[in-house]
Amino acid sequence: MTTSVETKGHGRPVPLLELSGVEVSYPGGVRAVAGVDLAVVRGETLSVVGESGCGKSSLARAIVHAPPPTSGTVRFDGRDLEALSPSELRALRPRLQMIFQDPISSLNPRRTARQIVADGPDIWKRELADGGGVDDTLRKVGIDPDRMGDRRPHQFSGGQCQRISIARAVVLEPDVLVCDEPVSALDVSVQAQVLNLLRRLKADLDLTMVFIAHDLAVVKNISDRVAVMYLGKICEIGPVRAIYGNPAHHYTRALLASVPDVADAQRSVSDAPVSGEVPSPSSPPSGCRFRTRCPRAELRCATEEPELNALGAGHDDHLVACHFPVRG
Ligand SMILES: Nc1ncnc2c1ncn2[C@@H]1O[C@H](COP(=O)(O)OP(=O)(O)OP(=O)(O)O)[C@@H](O)[C@H]1O
Ligand code: SF4
Ligand SMILES: [Mg+2]
Repeated sequence: MTTSVETKGHGRPVPLLELSGVEVSYPGGVRAVAGVDLAVVRGETLSVVGESGCGKSSLARAIVHAPPPTSGTVRFDGRDLEALSPSELRALRPRLQMIFQDPISSLNPRRTARQIVADGPDIWKRELADGGGVDDTLRKVGIDPDRMGDRRPHQFSGGQCQRISIARAVVLEPDVLVCDEPVSALDVSVQAQVLNLLRRLKADLDLTMVFIAHDLAVVKNISDRVAVMYLGKICEIGPVRAIYGNPAHHYTRALLASVPDVADAQRSVSDAPVSGEVPSPSSPPSGCRFRTRCPRAELRCATEEPELNALGAGHDDHLVACHFPVRG
C-alpha cells in the first residue's frame, strides 16, 4: 500500500477509483443508477448523500463489482474492473472492501467474532502483516478479543456488530472502503463513536473511503467532498465547505434545510425542507429530474436536462446540474 498521492506529471492527483457512465438497471425498467461519473483520489473520503431509493446502495455495489454495473466502467488503481479475468478480479477484491447498513444481519450468526474476522484472510489466502493479526484488528476497533473474541453476533450490540464488520473489512488491508450507511441503524450516541472509529482507522490505515448516507448531518465531519444524488444521478458535488457553505442545487439546499444545525449562515432562511413524493426511477421526469419538487422550476427545466458543470470561474471543483443554480 502506498501512502503518497501519485500524479500524472501535471500536478493533478491520479484517481484511485474512477467511475465513468456507471448505470445500474433492474428488471421492470428500474434505472437505479442513471449514469454516474466520479473520481476519488487516494486518501480522500467522498460521501454520497440522497434520499431512500435514489440508488446509493446500487452504486456502492457497482463500485465493488458485486454485481458489476449494467453499463459504464469502474477503474481501480488504473485498471478497468470489467476487463479483468475472474482470477484477477478475485485477487484484487481484498483491496476493495464494503461495510453494510445492517450490522447484525451482515454477520454470520454461527461464527464467533474472531472467526468472522479470520474468515477473510483464510478465503483470500492473505498473509497477515506483522501487527495485523485477527486479535490486533479486533483491538483496533475496540473489541477486546480476550473477553469477547469467542462471542457470536447475537451476544453483541448493534454498535459492536458494526465494529466487527469494520474489523472484517480492514483486516484485509484494503485500499478502498465503501461504507453503505454504516451508522444509519445505530443509536445517535453510538453513531458518533462508530464515525470516530472510521475516521481514526482511515488515518491510521491510509484508507480511501466512499461513505454513503441519507443525511447530510452525518457526513459533514468525515468527508473531504460530498456528492448529492437524486433519482440515480449526481446533482451536485464539491468540497465540504462548498456543499455546506454555498449549496447551489435546490435539492441540496432542501436537504440542508432539514438539518438546520449544519446549515451555514450564508444559506437563505427561505429554503424549505424537501417535500413531495420521489418519482419512480423507472419513469423519471423529463428534463431535470428534480423539477417536480423544485421551488425554482421553470419551463426550461421540463424540456432540457441540466448537465453537471462547474459552478463558475474559481469553482472548478464545485459542480452542479441545474439551469438556475444559487450562487453564494
Ligand atoms: N434487486 C433489485 N431489484 C429491483 N429493483 C431494485 C433492486 N434493488 C434496488 N432496486 C430499486 O432501485 C432503486 C434504488 O435502490 P437502492 O437500494 O440502490 O437505493 P438507496 O438509495 O440505497 O435506498 P436506501 O436509502 O433505502 O437504502 C429503488 O427504486 C429500488 O426499489
Ligand atoms: S434545473 Fe430547474 S428544476 Fe432542476 S434544480 Fe435547477 S431550477 Fe430546479
Ligand atoms: Mg441503500
